Amino acid sequence: MPGFDTLLPRPVSVEPLPGHCPLPSEVDVRTGADLPAEGYRLEIDPSGVTLHAADAAGEFYGRQTLRQLIGPDAFRAASIHSGQAVIPCGMVTDHPRFSWRGCLLDVARHFRTKAEVLRFIDLIAAHKLNVLNLHLTDDQGWRIEIPEFPKLTEVGGWRKSSMVGRHDGPERDGRPHGGFYTAGDLREIVAYAAERAVTVVPEIDIPGHARAAITAYPELGPETGGPWEVWTSWGISTSLLNTEKSTVDFFRTVFDHVLDIFPSQAIALGGDEVPGATEEHHRFVREIAQHLTERGRRPFGWDEVLEAADLPKMVIGSWQSEAAGARAAAAGHDVVMCPEERVYLDHRQSDHPDEPIPVGYLRTLEDIYGYEPVPADFPADRTILGTQAQVWAEHLDNVRRVDYAAFPRLSAFAEVAWSRPEGRDYAEFLPRLRDHHLPRLDSLGVEYRPLDGPHPWQTRPGVPGRPR
Ligand code: ACM
Repeated sequence: MPGFDTLLPRPVSVEPLPGHCPLPSEVDVRTGADLPAEGYRLEIDPSGVTLHAADAAGEFYGRQTLRQLIGPDAFRAASIHSGQAVIPCGMVTDHPRFSWRGCLLDVARHFRTKAEVLRFIDLIAAHKLNVLNLHLTDDQGWRIEIPEFPKLTEVGGWRKSSMVGRHDGPERDGRPHGGFYTAGDLREIVAYAAERAVTVVPEIDIPGHARAAITAYPELGPETGGPWEVWTSWGISTSLLNTEKSTVDFFRTVFDHVLDIFPSQAIALGGDEVPGATEEHHRFVREIAQHLTERGRRPFGWDEVLEAADLPKMVIGSWQSEAAGARAAAAGHDVVMCPEERVYLDHRQSDHPDEPIPVGYLRTLEDIYGYEPVPADFPADRTILGTQAQVWAEHLDNVRRVDYAAFPRLSAFAEVAWSRPEGRDYAEFLPRLRDHHLPRLDSLGVEYRPLDGPHPWQTRPGVPGRPR
């Protein structure tokens, strides 16, 4: 029977009591008016289980904690025991440190089927993460059907070939790739996530990272440089959306459709990596941000958008540096800390020669666990909304690769996002993860990276990476 010391993420407080309780068929759920948002208090005594919950999220999290106390088999898709489970008696009082505990999933570079997205939601929800930033559009693919502009997915949803690994050469795999979600698919994803206390923040990237859209509708793009094709390279494309009024209007229509599907307060407009950005590009971002604000939403943009003047209040994803987050906070924006050097999970996990397609910075499990989202020099009178890990997918061409990149580092990140930093100690975390949490991931069927390196079938010999 797992004890309270096996829980992940670590709760605010636990008070073990002697004895155990046969797992009741019903949990007595009560309103916990005294609890902070998303908080819960789980009381387990020999007569039963009482769950006090601040709100629906708190109830969900209390049930996740209970699931961990039952044991790894509680994470299987069906029960495999006929006898009655027992759980330890005691009390858990808990609420998250940050209200934005996010993970970005890039479904533009490599399409993930709807079933794979639903599964990913299950996995992040089991870790008490609560935001899925769904990166739906990029140079290499457009994944959301827009009824007014069918070519976005008919043309922009497909590319003829892909770069394998990361290199400067002309070689491509010669295999078409693509896919997209209908409004019905996305409404299903949103509703499924909501049942698991996860908000889906959709991302439509403007004015860069838009070559798939330009291929579908060349009038959105530059006057020269065509004919376009959905990009078969990785990297930063210099082909940007033009800044004509008709192009901005086109994207107003796109975003209106997005707003109709996604109830999230935050709606992401990208804004990152715009080579040679001009005041006109800043205006484009500002006008879309205002459009979202006028419709009662909060635009989310990557920190490059801070170069634009007169932005409405936004959520800024501080990815280039921690200093950008401080600047955003000083300018009155909300801040989600997601620095590339710290929490990009597509980046390589070790220096081992067998590490598959090693790109980016070396970020070990221990590095992720040691990440502190509030920088020491962050303005004392400001707070951050939270933190977000990124699963970019240029080099994750199937769901098994996503599992490998994300886990167990995302388990470590979940504790960073949920738990208080006091007493955080990797020497305590590692055996808790290894002995108690990896068996939960095994039950869930997650093909995580083993702690001592990849399984042979997880390696990609001969596929070039690009370590930094
Ligand atoms: C980003 O990594 N371009 C936000």
